[in-house]
Amino acid sequence: MPFVQRIDAGLVSRRVAVSLLIVAILVLARRTGQGAAMSSGVDLERGKKIYRQTCLECHGPAGRGDGPKAKKLGFRPRDFKLGAFKCRCTPSGQLPTDDDLLRVVTRGMPGTPMPSHEKTLSLEDRHAVILYIKSLSPGFAAGSALPCISIPDPLPVTPELVAEGKQIYRIMSCWKCHGVAGRGDGPASKGLKDDWGNPINAYNFTLKGKLKCGGDARDFYRTLHTGMTGSPMPSFDAAFPFARDSVTNFTAFQGAFTAAEVQDLKGYLQRQPDKAALSYLSPKASQQLVEKRTWALIYYLRSLLLP
Ligand code: HEC
Ligand code: HEC
Repeated sequence: MPFVQRIDAGLVSRRVAVSLLIVAILVLARRTGQGAAMSSGVDLERGKKIYRQTCLECHGPAGRGDGPKAKKLGFRPRDFKLGAFKCRCTPSGQLPTDDDLLRVVTRGMPGTPMPSHEKTLSLEDRHAVILYIKSLSPGFAAGSALPCISIPDPLPVTPELVAEGKQIYRIMSCWKCHGVAGRGDGPASKGLKDDWGNPINAYNFTLKGKLKCGGDARDFYRTLHTGMTGSPMPSFDAAFPFARDSVTNFTAFQGAFTAAEVQDLKGYLQRQPDKAALSYLSPKASQQLVEKRTWALIYYLRSLLLP
């Protein structure tokens, strides 16, 4: 065989091989696509059945939060159609990820009638019911959730961080709703309502194990940076990089805290960078500042727990 022809033959057979490979990949992709669609169809049916057996009594036949038990709970079960979820790793106002929903369905929402399903539903059943409740909320049809905020490794707890957290709790106005001593009785706590007009309490930090979105350090971090959609508890993501000169009016502090406490607060602020210095920080340094302040605040909140 002449040299040129041999090359051609090689090329042709290679082309054939490549085409065959492409066809094989396409066939396989279609099969898996069909498989996924079929299995999600099955999961959705299964999810619906589990929903009817397990969730309907509270969340209602169409997920509107109006099940036969709903009125007697003292808490409004979530209306899934609204797409408002409190426990999310996604930014404020966004839809939750499947993992967020799995966490809530698994652990329940402590301090509310929303039960844990860790022992009562298998992991597959929890996934199936999540697929079903997502089908009740039009927002999920539009696409997948935004990525989670990143949650860094917790810093070690130190008395210095706890003391710093106390000042941050004051500067960031947590006390206005949650109270000077963290008992949920701050001046702005009266008459708080959720987005659906139901009365709601600012959390009492002296209570143990009643945090709706979980009480380990990372759960707190998530809640503080993403907020609780549908409730007056906002996201504080943008408030953590406060500057020495962010606070100019001390009247509210003077009404709520002793003169010595206001002095401590001013002393702490003096040691913080001013707005200009903050704006010169590298992204990494400003992220570190935010993280340190967040852990400090969290460790202070935890120090308020009654034994
Ligand atoms: C006994 C009543 C009850 C049952 C049963 C129940 N829930 Fe709930 N659920 C609630 C209440 C009440 C809330 C709202 C709590 C709050 O926000 O204070 C809630 C909230 C939720 C939320 C919102 C979570 C968030 O981040 O805001 C989801 C999701 C949810 N339930 C899913 C389910 C699923 C799935 C089932 C069945 C497997 C179920 N629930 C069974 C009462 C119930
Ligand atoms: C405008 C009032 C308001 C302010 C200000 C406020 N909160 Fe809240 N917070 C609430 C309400 C109301 C709830 C209860 C939400 C619920 O149960 O759905 C809450 C709940 C919480 C929870 C409980 C989360 C859970 O999983 O149950 C934490 C932690 C918390 N707040 C921390 C803070 C911190 C820290 C600050 C200051 C940086 C702060 N809050 C400022 C109103 C407020």
